Amino acid sequence: MSLLRDEEYFKIAEVKAREILDSKGIPMVEVDVVTNGGVLGRAGAPCGISAGKYEAVTLRDNDSSRYLGLGVLKAITNIQNVIAPKIIGKDVRMQRQIDKIMIHLDGTERKANLGGNTTLSVSYAVAEAAANALRLPLYRYIGGVNAHILPLPMFNIINGGPYSVTDLDFQEFMIMPKSAKSFSEVLRISVEVYHELKKVLKKHYGKKGSTPGHAGGYSPPISDPMEAFDRILEAVDEAGHTGKIVLCLDCAASHIYDKKEGKYVFMGKKVTREFLMDFYEDLTKTYPLFLLEDPLHEDDFEGHAELTRDLTILIVGDDLFATNLKRLEKGVKMGAANGIILKPNQIGTLSEAIDVAQFAMENKYAVIPSIRSCSRYIEPLADISVALNCKYCKFGAPTTGERTYHYNRLLQIEEELGLSLIHISEPTRPLYISYAVFCLK
Ligand code: PGA
Ligand code: ZN
Repeated sequence: MSLLRDEEYFKIAEVKAREILDSKGIPMVEVDVVTNGGVLGRAGAPCGISAGKYEAVTLRDNDSSRYLGLGVLKAITNIQNVIAPKIIGKDVRMQRQIDKIMIHLDGTERKANLGGNTTLSVSYAVAEAAANALRLPLYRYIGGVNAHILPLPMFNIINGGPYSVTDLDFQEFMIMPKSAKSFSEVLRISVEVYHELKKVLKKHYGKKGSTPGHAGGYSPPISDPMEAFDRILEAVDEAGHTGKIVLCLDCAASHIYDKKEGKYVFMGKKVTREFLMDFYEDLTKTYPLFLLEDPLHEDDFEGHAELTRDLTILIVGDDLFATNLKRLEKGVKMGAANGIILKPNQIGTLSEAIDVAQFAMENKYAVIPSIRSCSRYIEPLADISVALNCKYCKFGAPTTGERTYHYNRLLQIEEELGLSLIHISEPTRPLYISYAVFCLK
């Protein structure tokens, strides 16, 4: 314990960076931060497949002689030559100070010089080193004694959008159990529906329709979102969970927006924003829809505000806010949305992401930490969700180690905290939702 009183123990001795492969065989940055006490913090930052245009830049080499231009050696050089000399000797517990140093070294709005993948990898590694040095789990280090809520996952089970093989225009069809006694029960219900859905899809569309797609959800040959919801509800019934779940939909509408014409391409037709908004209203009347993510394109703050006023559900900004405080401030002023997807790699440092979450919560926005849909590396988002007492999270389909890691990590945290879920009410107007609160037994 005397070590913990020794300031030298926490000071950064070494910062190492290497180019590794993510689980899709694409190069990424991994960073080791080692303290004088010999404590290691190791981390990397993911990147998204459906990145919004306001996100921090993922720095790649663009050198076609290596990894088809996707190498990250420039990022490695930035860490070794630019960042490391400025943070060696700093105390790993000074997260904000270290993040600020990187923000200043970069000097751009979107981390265009150093790369958001570069800065977030260092930022995460510093936090991991501090937590390890203090012998605390990361959620406890970041959240302190107040970290006590386990998030309800929005569980991705059908994938559409431009990266999918289906004709569904919307990107992610998700379920969320609305009442259960514990996180483990929430997870069990979701996973049972996921497996049941495979059988339902096979029955309707044959083997091909029941194969998991790029983001782990199924990709059946469907073009109508209502048909996708029907199949999901059928699987919910088959799994014996009738009435226990609500539906969530990530429209990722920027991807179907034709800027030149000012219209959306939806189910093979060019439609107006008003058409889409009416369609969303129909969805809320027909299905137990709880949440819409990016229902309109990422520059349409007015449209998001209108939907937030008119629909009695959560309207959540992912590409709309890009985990960026300035964009969120604009959204809050305009009443655009009442929830935000929190993806630390959209902004590039842990402390900036925490600032965004805090501002969102102060303004009664739901904060939903999210992995990138093609999660390719484990990032500490389960711990961050618990640290910030987030009521919801978005960790993808229960396939591949990177995605299931987050669910398994929440199971571990549930065991550590000894939590139990009291109740989740039927979602009504967002501000009156009695959230999924897991509190101390
Ligand atoms: P991503 O997209 O692949 O960029 O993470 C997922 C999403 O839009 O939520
Ligand atoms: Zn999204």
